[in-house]
Amino acid sequence: MIRQTYIVIQMNLKRTDLLQKGAYINGQFVQADSAKTFPVYNPFSGEMIAEVADCNGDDAKVAIDSAAVAFKIWRKFTGTKRGKILRRWYELQIEHAKDLATILTIEQGKPLAESVGEIRYGASFVEWFAEEARRAYGDVIPGHQRDKRIMVIKQPVGVVAAITPWNFPSAMITRKVAPALAAGCTVVIKPSELTPLSALALAVLATEAGIPPGVFNVLPTNDAPSIGNEMTSSRIVRKLSFTGSTAVGKLLLRQCADTVKKVSMELGGNAPFIVFDDADIDKAVEGAIASKFRNAGQTCVCTNRVFVQEGIYDEFIKKFAEAAENQKIGDGLKDGVTIGPMVEEKAVASVQHLVEDAISQGATQLCGGKRHGDKDSLIYLPTVLAHATTEMKVFHTEIFGPVAPVFKFKTEEEVLRLANDTPYGLAAYFYGRDYARLWRVAEGLEYGMVAINGSSVSTTVAPFGGIKESGIGREGSKYGLEEYLEMKQIMWAGIE
Ligand code: SIN
Repeated sequence: MIRQTYIVIQMNLKRTDLLQKGAYINGQFVQADSAKTFPVYNPFSGEMIAEVADCNGDDAKVAIDSAAVAFKIWRKFTGTKRGKILRRWYELQIEHAKDLATILTIEQGKPLAESVGEIRYGASFVEWFAEEARRAYGDVIPGHQRDKRIMVIKQPVGVVAAITPWNFPSAMITRKVAPALAAGCTVVIKPSELTPLSALALAVLATEAGIPPGVFNVLPTNDAPSIGNEMTSSRIVRKLSFTGSTAVGKLLLRQCADTVKKVSMELGGNAPFIVFDDADIDKAVEGAIASKFRNAGQTCVCTNRVFVQEGIYDEFIKKFAEAAENQKIGDGLKDGVTIGPMVEEKAVASVQHLVEDAISQGATQLCGGKRHGDKDSLIYLPTVLAHATTEMKVFHTEIFGPVAPVFKFKTEEEVLRLANDTPYGLAAYFYGRDYARLWRVAEGLEYGMVAINGSSVSTTVAPFGGIKESGIGREGSKYGLEEYLEMKQIMWAGIE
């Protein structure tokens, strides 16, 4: 108890009520049916922040039923009315961005400036879909026979279940919930057990914005399978949207098959970052740092494999390693920190294993390669590995940490083959100047998102999503609304 009080003071929140511990079901914060709770920790200090309701399948049933009742009302609101409520939710997120970001940093570890960026990024989906709510356009199709008229209307899918990750505890919720609510669906979400507090804070603001009870529900849990099973087996739930690993995504897809749910899957990646001989090297280094070390390397679009053409390899790795070493590491709440802790011990152990494997197979460690500070620290130093090869695990594995293996290549054909030699297909980045080659490479990369001379593909206005084993569907942009709409054909006969 004393520890929790300390954390709240340290957080210096203007709105202490944003820190909730109950599940949010049918517009109320409630304890779990079992009355069980689970602890949430600060990954930088290891301190417990809060004990949160530990929901199970029974709680999920109640939340799904309340979402089904709310759906009957919410779907009848006009798009304009839903949009106004969403707009208010957006404004509240912006007004309380500092508090939301502080909660996010405390439970997830990313630097405060990045957390503020995430809150703004997340809120931008709510703003965007508040506008899109009234644009669920249908179609009129010329009849195929003289007496026929054909129309296509778009209707909300129904109750949506969403399972969201710890690496973006706020934005991955709004990226799903905003289009769902705009379309007229209602939602039950299960946030990660590592970061439920950001989800609950969004729920406080949802009530304040006027989102009716049952339209948005949050089920914190330490028992993901129990909630996941209920969500996937329920006939009331008509859609599942998931962001997380490819392995869990495949399991959920199998589970959704029995009730033939609509699905959106935003899964793992193995992003190539290619630098051709004619690239602006300083810009490429800057881009590689931004794309590799964002959130301590813990995003699904983070650079995973850096490929550098032989003519500039030595210059690039020298500059890249220097810039990596200059990152400021530490407590995400401290000014100027650019790399915080990884989220949990398992994550640190996994990157350490990948680094050891690469070094044992001949990689040269230019910086990093170990934890910062004592053996319990979850901060892993930014690590650059030169002379990486395709035999190493870092070539095939999603690293999800601040480790950058750098491969050398000779030709465009070779690097395209290497870049595409993975079951993943989420994001890819490349730098160069030759226009014809830029176009050829953009077309040749088997990825859902490609950045040319840039290090980011993430924005509300562009479709986010992968191909191959990186996922199904797109989030954000004008395409994002479609994921929560069903198309209905209306065939009108007998018009003579
Ligand atoms: C993710 O890592 O899942 C999302 C990253 C982003 O939206 O940029």
